[in-house]
Amino acid sequence: MHRGHAARKVGHGATVDEGPPKDGAADGDGAPGGRVARSKEVDVSTMRAAVVHGFTDPLSIDEIEVPTPGPFEALVKVDYTGVCHTDLHAAHGDWPVKPSPPFVPGHEGVGTVVAVGDSVTRVKVGDTVGNAWLWSACGECEYCETGWETLCPNQKNGGYSVDGSFGQYMLVDSRYCPVIPDGVDLSAVGPILCAGVTVYKGLKTTDTKPGEWVLISGIGGLGHIAVQYAVAMGRRVAAVDVADDKLELARKHGAEGTVNAATSPDAAAELQEKTGGGVHGALVTAVNAHAFPQAVGALRRGGTVSLVGLPPDQFPLDIFTTVLFGLTVRGSIVGTRKDMSEALDFFARGQIHPTYTVRPLDDVNAVFTAMEEGGIDGRVVMDMS
Ligand SMILES: NC(=O)c1ccc[n+]([C@@H]2O[C@H](COP(=O)([O-])OP(=O)(O)OC[C@H]3O[C@@H](n4cnc5c(N)ncnc54)[C@H](O)[C@@H]3O)[C@@H](O)[C@H]2O)c1
Ligand SMILES: [Zn+2]
Ligand SMILES: [Zn+2]
Repeated sequence: MHRGHAARKVGHGATVDEGPPKDGAADGDGAPGGRVARSKEVDVSTMRAAVVHGFTDPLSIDEIEVPTPGPFEALVKVDYTGVCHTDLHAAHGDWPVKPSPPFVPGHEGVGTVVAVGDSVTRVKVGDTVGNAWLWSACGECEYCETGWETLCPNQKNGGYSVDGSFGQYMLVDSRYCPVIPDGVDLSAVGPILCAGVTVYKGLKTTDTKPGEWVLISGIGGLGHIAVQYAVAMGRRVAAVDVADDKLELARKHGAEGTVNAATSPDAAAELQEKTGGGVHGALVTAVNAHAFPQAVGALRRGGTVSLVGLPPDQFPLDIFTTVLFGLTVRGSIVGTRKDMSEALDFFARGQIHPTYTVRPLDDVNAVFTAMEEGGIDGRVVMDMS
């Protein structure tokens, strides 16, 4: 029993801590001169969540069981969750390694720890934390040992192999969950937990330096945040998308040169010209395979393209140009816990301002439709209250 807190029972006997009682809510154990403990056991064994039942079905809003935190796990009451295009790929079963329905997507959730399992030391009840794509890793393999936990073959993924944040409660692994800095806007921070950390790490892997040009291809949820990290990291930004409003968003966030790939006769050549000989690095977040060879074609000699977007397709890589111009083509997947805390630090210092719209959980299918049609400005964040 926590002094001054009301407690609720959840799941299989976990206790939800509801925080300090409102003024006048105290009932008496007679402690002199202040608030007193109030205990109220309420069964909240179920919650609302958006569930994928089949890869061709819309999500359904179901009443499902609130999970119980096991060892090292914490139960989090979710306030907000961002909606990433990866959630849409997950719901459609787009990729070779598929999730197993029924499951709850979502890996940009933020909320409050309300219960902890055994052996939890890193977070406590009342802390503000999030979930992430890198839900956990083994901590023991050669990748975990060498600072590449994002490549761990035994990792678990939020909203994919473990239920995610499209529910009113979610589990996190206390050893891996992002801890949200004090004082930040909780509706705005969700998009940092996947989009932010992914593009921040992806930009590092372009091997560009301050003052050099970097191309951001695809100005959606990831891309509009990538423009901001790139500017904050001192890069000069060129942006490509297939919609003028997205390019306008890129310019608003600091892009110097923009090209519309849908209307340009040769987007790569136009980028070469605008950047005085090509971009030093490129980050491709677009969900369209055509954007990938185009980004390679926009590179300066010796340049690096980092692939982040995950359309379920292939693209042709020109061997002659790659060899003679010494180009590097690499993939980049989310970021480590260290990348995450750095990305959150940029946000907490006011360097990054996601453009987002808040929608209720009930709108999840409409949000997915808008995402498929390229009709979202920045990110959608769902209010889970
Ligand atoms: N590698 C990682 O770690 C990682 C992490 C998160 C997301 N992703 C993937 O990144 C992709 C983007 O996610 P998002 O949430 O930003 O999606 P989004 O739907 O918000 O944005 C996609 C953008 O691509 C643009 N686009 C479409 N066709 C294009 C083209 N031919 N050229 C340029 N731009 C084009 C769209 O107009 C849109 O602005 C998804 O495939 C997602 O699964 C990867
Ligand atoms: Zn994501
Ligand atoms: Zn590992």
